[in-house]
Amino acid sequence: MQKIKTTLTAFGLSAALLAAAPVFADGHLEKAIEARQAAMKLYSFNLGQLGAMAKGNVAYDAAVASAAAGNLAALAAMDQGAMWPKGSDATAMPDKTRAMAEIWSTYPEITGKSKALADASAAMAKVAGDGLPALQGAIGDVGQSCGGCHKPFRVPK
Ligand code: HEC
Repeated sequence: MQKIKTTLTAFGLSAALLAAAPVFADGHLEKAIEARQAAMKLYSFNLGQLGAMAKGNVAYDAAVASAAAGNLAALAAMDQGAMWPKGSDATAMPDKTRAMAEIWSTYPEITGKSKALADASAAMAKVAGDGLPALQGAIGDVGQSCGGCHKPFRVPK
């Protein structure tokens, strides 16, 4: 049970995941940090494609938009609990991560931020293939949900 308490349960953490011992082996904090940064990069890649279309920098393509929005919604729904272990914050590991210690000290506040992204990206995935105006109408909430978590919980560059 101690493991459960010392691991962030944001992002819909399941107890089953926590039971996986390798997560707690040597170097587990670094691995978790790399994994969550990789997840963020995937958010960014998919949102970047959609943003380019929404801004008119590239031509709107319904299939591409649907795929990217579907990917983002799937990624946002992923259980990331094991990627955010306690102790993997920027105060403890400043050269590895920009995740503020407030993520853990104010927990469960961050779960609301995580849910905002999951909700906004699910809503966008429903309409992203329905034309440029539909995509443009939905993408703002997604972008705001990214910033809405980065502002309080990510150390600025
Ligand atoms: C629930 C909080 C939260 C949400 C929502 C969120 N992020 Fe992040 N993001 C973070 C935190 C915290 C970090 C710092 C992680 C670290 O360095 O360990 C981060 C880091 C990043 C990074 C840098 C990754 C790296 O390689 O170091 C990118 C890019 C990024 N986020 C993009 C996004 C995009 C795009 C969205 C929205 C689609 C998003 N994030 C939504 C919390 C969030």
